[in-house]
Amino acid sequence: MTKLEVVHYPEPVLRRGGKPVTAFGPELRQLAEEMLATMYSSRGVGLAAPQVGRELDLLVLNPEGSLADRTQELVLVNPRILSRKRLEFGDEGCLSFPGIYAEVERHRDIVATWQDVEGRVQEGKASGFVARIIQHEMDHLQGVLFVDRLSPADRIRVKKQLEALERRARIAT
Ligand code: CO
Repeated sequence: MTKLEVVHYPEPVLRRGGKPVTAFGPELRQLAEEMLATMYSSRGVGLAAPQVGRELDLLVLNPEGSLADRTQELVLVNPRILSRKRLEFGDEGCLSFPGIYAEVERHRDIVATWQDVEGRVQEGKASGFVARIIQHEMDHLQGVLFVDRLSPADRIRVKKQLEALERRARIAT
């Protein structure tokens, strides 16, 4: 399985987000599998297509974050949230922001609709950690990053780490 490269902030593709997926089938399935493999090897619990340089409305997740339990894997294509309830804060990180963690407010309960890799429409409820992952990854599809949602105090706290990522990108290019 090919492991994809996860792009780091401030790579511009992270701001471009995704576009609706219109082609379903084996190629999309393979991309989703490669994203899952990349997510597991990076020790993440979710990954959105823009994070691997693909401008597609596609995300993968597994709240267990481990190949040992693939029963909780989800692949969401063209996801939309139908309803949301009860805001709560929780800790988040992001594979595109190595070493940065902060509290973000998300809805605790959501109902979402999406397509699977074959294009079949699905609907489901999620709450707690899974709902949080879905909302974090769906933000990526809009070009929104979790650091956009930090409290003013956290924004100041992580400022130096963000600047370090920006410097590292300038050196790399
Ligand atoms: Co992320």
